[in-house]
Amino acid sequence: MPNAVISGTGMYVPDNIVTNDDLVSQYGIDTNHDWIVKRTGIEARRFAPEGIGSADLAVPACEQAIEDAGLQKKDIDMILFATLSPEHCFPGSGVYLQEKLGMPEAGHFCPAMDIRNQCSGFLYGLGTAASMVKAGAVKNVLVVGGETHSAALDLSTRGRAVASLFGDAAGAVVVSASDDESRGIRTWKLGADGRYADVLAQRVWDVRKRPFIPVDENGVGQVQPEMMWAQMDGRLVFKNAVERMIMGLMEVCWKEGITMNDIDVFAFHQANLRINQYVAQQLNVPEEKLLQNIHKFGNTTAATIPTLLAEAQREGRLERGMKVATVAFGSGFTWGAALIDW
Ligand code: UT7
Repeated sequence: MPNAVISGTGMYVPDNIVTNDDLVSQYGIDTNHDWIVKRTGIEARRFAPEGIGSADLAVPACEQAIEDAGLQKKDIDMILFATLSPEHCFPGSGVYLQEKLGMPEAGHFCPAMDIRNQCSGFLYGLGTAASMVKAGAVKNVLVVGGETHSAALDLSTRGRAVASLFGDAAGAVVVSASDDESRGIRTWKLGADGRYADVLAQRVWDVRKRPFIPVDENGVGQVQPEMMWAQMDGRLVFKNAVERMIMGLMEVCWKEGITMNDIDVFAFHQANLRINQYVAQQLNVPEEKLLQNIHKFGNTTAATIPTLLAEAQREGRLERGMKVATVAFGSGFTWGAALIDW
């Protein structure tokens, strides 16, 4: 059975930096830097310009990851695109990315699949890719997490509890087959609890209704704000995130027969610095072992973990032989954790 390794990483963020103060001065939101930093650790986020979507953000991240893996686009056997902000209702972002990477023009028609698991999407993708590589079905899978949140945030005081948290970014890894036994994606554990599906959700339409969005007398769709924008019970999410992240990390360590002390680097999903600090504290993990980028990018959902890995690799914080633990929790509720020998 081949081993599944992360052979390359890449990331991309748009240029436009939006600070907490910009949320006040540019968008007129009744908030302040201290409130946001104290509750979340977020100081700034990036917003993509109009006309740019999640697949656009993913292109440079994927090109970097493919190059870093020493591969060419034609070597990619499959694309797994994790996002909660696809360009359209359908098709998914994966096919747009495949086209933007120039694959069809080059006669390369690799499958492209979207993963709809929000903040856990990247880890669902990583587990799927590793399983397929280990099964011998594919050799190189591009796993990408990309989000364009800025288009769908209620950037007003009404929406401040959600709008102040999120940013745009893309991160990618290549998962490859390898005979090298010293490295690899060792284990992963995914979970979901659908009882909480409505606790963090954006219900723009409801296909149980006829029509699926209300229309006015002229047949023009009318989406109410509570349907249009994401709604969240932040405290319930916070509490469940802490519990599930701790449990996920303990489960993967248990499965591999190691302790938290054996892990060199932790790549936690970046939803809230306080969540991550609390999880680390409960597990006796020193903060120096945590990768963090929430202060500059905010919560970039499916992109948080691959951007962390790409940044850490470039900064020399990830070296061959290190043990990496990663964990995520989010809408669904869904969660995942994985252990990687880098
Ligand atoms: O990837 C998963 C995604 N989400 C998460 O992980 C989020 C987890 N939850 C959280 O991070 C926290 O619950 C938040 C940071 C979202 C909110 O912190 P909180 O301490 O739970 O605040 P709250 O929602 O209970 O709101 C407290 C007050 C409210 O005012 P009143 O009703 O007490 O007068 C809010 O209206 O803070 C107000 N508020 C704000 N004030 C200034 C909410 N957002 C803001 C804001 N600026 N941006």
